[in-house]
Amino acid sequence: MSHQTVIILDFGGQYNQLIARRVRECGVYCEVKPFTTSLAELRALAPIGIIFTGGPNSVYLETSPHVDPEIFTWGVPILGICYGCQLIAHALGGKVAAATKDSAREYGKTATYFNTDCRLFKGLPAQGITWMSHGDYMEKVPDGFALTARSDACPNVAIADEARGFYGVQYHPEVNHTEHGTDMIRNFLYEVCGAAGDWSMSGYKETALRQLREKIGTGKVLLALSGGVDSSVAAALLAEAVGSQLTCVFVDHGLMRLNEGDEVEAAFSRWNINFVRADAEALFLEKLSGVAEPEAKRKIIGEEFIRVFETEAKKIGQVDYLAQGTIYPDVIESGAGDAAVIKSHHNVGGLPDFVDFKEIIEPLRLLFKDEVRQLGRELALPEYLVSRQPFPGPGLAVRVIGDITREKLDILRLADFIFRDEVAKAGLEGTMDQYFAVLTNMRSVGVMGDGRTYDYTLALRSVTTTDFMTADWTRIPYEVLDRISVRIVNEVPHINRIVYDITSKPPATIEWE
Ligand code: XMP
Repeated sequence: MSHQTVIILDFGGQYNQLIARRVRECGVYCEVKPFTTSLAELRALAPIGIIFTGGPNSVYLETSPHVDPEIFTWGVPILGICYGCQLIAHALGGKVAAATKDSAREYGKTATYFNTDCRLFKGLPAQGITWMSHGDYMEKVPDGFALTARSDACPNVAIADEARGFYGVQYHPEVNHTEHGTDMIRNFLYEVCGAAGDWSMSGYKETALRQLREKIGTGKVLLALSGGVDSSVAAALLAEAVGSQLTCVFVDHGLMRLNEGDEVEAAFSRWNINFVRADAEALFLEKLSGVAEPEAKRKIIGEEFIRVFETEAKKIGQVDYLAQGTIYPDVIESGAGDAAVIKSHHNVGGLPDFVDFKEIIEPLRLLFKDEVRQLGRELALPEYLVSRQPFPGPGLAVRVIGDITREKLDILRLADFIFRDEVAKAGLEGTMDQYFAVLTNMRSVGVMGDGRTYDYTLALRSVTTTDFMTADWTRIPYEVLDRISVRIVNEVPHINRIVYDITSKPPATIEWE
């Protein structure tokens, strides 16, 4: 399947990925490109439309990102969002200036009035809420442009040159706070750019399978499978494409949730691939024995993981391709700043190149997470794998506080299973982005039957978040918490007290270690 492409030209705005996701949701393929990308490279993509994103700068400053005016001569429709809108105005002869207090600096939810004769707003309500975040405004609109939306404070909320297909909006249609924002983007794609809506996961699957077969030929592929969504879907795609030429190495470190290792293995049993389950539980527990410090645990697990993978890879011999489950947000975000290390994250996607191979294959590098899940469904991976919540590479080791023993892991596994089971029974899965149990190393006195107990306190953690960088604790209904608590203390030995973690991130992190 060949598909049409829209380019999202990135001027450094904070919602740029969201714009791309909205476009994809509308059934149109798009790629995010930095504004420094050469015109030749952009042109080679043969875009049906271009979207200029927002950005933190002021277009009238020499040092701000600009665009080669030649792009306006291509005859390709352009939509500018916030900074992108000001950029169009600035480049085509309008005037952008800093908004003074009583003119048009706007932030937050803003009542906005639209001219629905404009193709951008066709079929949408004439009035609604938009999300604004701008300190500059268009003092003079370029010749040939009409004003097509206004707010109470600002007459120039949207501009349009319908003949040339150039549009600009001051607000952010991509964020949820804007009513009908995605509908407006859909109008740009379908009414203005003439999109055919030819981006679908079933189509993508067929194209990806064909391309993988062409590329790999008779070569051998090696993949480190963690059981997470990305590596599982990458494995399934490769399994479908090249079958027995694929070897998946699944390092079972014994720090998985209840039955997880078996579930992963079972999911891949229908393909004729080489599936290696390296049973390394004893090794990991031995290395972790007596280690209580969180960073030390993480480092040991990261290193051992690579060592086990390396040993298994060597048994396979010469490999042509190393496959990884890198996804599009990783690609867009790579090269992001040097923030302080809060936790040394361990991720099987980042294996060093100790294995001798020709090339890396990343079959998911153009897909967003929700598209990866859709692809997994297309490939008939079981739903429990496809809709799996994020799970940290070091597994339950960072959820058993203090030193780790097999007994503590088993206690935690059972308690965590009951928590998830009750959440599912209450139909709350969709409202919680990550939820799990933590075995604290605190013990307290309880009474059971007529006897005294002195046992562990278990913490429940659930967060609601979109990006996992910040998170709020989930307001689980009391009666559900009650059912979970009663079941766990009754069914799990050595737990006599349950607490619920009510801290958001920041100041806490999602995992306890
Ligand atoms: P924190 O605890 O830093 O977690 O707020 C943010 C998200 O990252 C997950 N996490 C990890 N994921 N390797 C991973 O692949 C890791 O080492 C790791 N540590 C934390 C965590 O579960 C949450 O979703």
